[in-house]
Amino acid sequence: MSRFFAEENSVDAVNARIGPDADARLSAVMTSLVKHLHAFIKDVHLTQDEWSAAIDFLTRTGQICSAERQEFILLSDTLGVSMLVDAINHRRPAQATENTVLGPFHVAGAPARDMGARISFDGKGEPCLFEGRVVDAHGRAVEGARIDVWSDNAEGFYDVQQPDIQPKWNNRGVFTTGKDGAYRFVGIKPVSYPIPHDGPVGKMLAALGRHPYRPAHMHFIVTANGFQAVVTHTFVGDDPYIGSDAVFGVKETLVAPFQRTDCGETLWRSPFDFVMTPLEG
Ligand code: BEZ
Ligand code: FE
Repeated sequence: MSRFFAEENSVDAVNARIGPDADARLSAVMTSLVKHLHAFIKDVHLTQDEWSAAIDFLTRTGQICSAERQEFILLSDTLGVSMLVDAINHRRPAQATENTVLGPFHVAGAPARDMGARISFDGKGEPCLFEGRVVDAHGRAVEGARIDVWSDNAEGFYDVQQPDIQPKWNNRGVFTTGKDGAYRFVGIKPVSYPIPHDGPVGKMLAALGRHPYRPAHMHFIVTANGFQAVVTHTFVGDDPYIGSDAVFGVKETLVAPFQRTDCGETLWRSPFDFVMTPLEG
């Protein structure tokens, strides 16, 4: 190999600089990154203007980030990277509940609520009873499971997007299962909404002819001692965006029934059981 950088030896020229004391995993990851990045640039024959546009895009992506906004995760989500990283790291048995994207609207510290309680306080939307059980692979109840839930309101906004309009902790709550592993709470039937699309990622989607919408869903994080955390949603199956989620979060097994009911205070009922996967080792 020549001592100097050239198109023909570009990958080796860069990777040869990694020092002997570099962390082995970092070295492996960066070696592969450089290999694929250089191959991509050669494959599309990236022009100087395109390279400048990419730098400008990444700069704007960083500049819009704040404590409330993480545009890089949105970029990862819209390119399918978040779902792929999750998929290769959470290969679960066939019956186990699958993960999907966390999204930017989870807020730690939501109020613990009594089983059966309401989580929706803005008076909007169609009340929906969410209920089911948290079980292990053998169908045995998991006691003490913590179920953290959150959704948008009937107008498609999370409380944190409208702090001056919605009540604090609107459409959020934390529930803990008892001996029977059962959970139950009253929210609203979720509605589809666009991911934040007023920044560089939104511009990218528009340029690609992609819409920014997510199909209606309820978010859940289910945790229990001895089990992998389940970070997931349940989806409304007849949503117009079910087949074109902007962040590729839909899985067949996460489409839940939403049944019209005439009894009690709720208009809808959505039954769904969470099947937990034991921690490895
Ligand atoms: C969400 O479902 O809250 C979400 C997920 C990914 C990107 C934006 C929003
Ligand atoms: Fe969401």
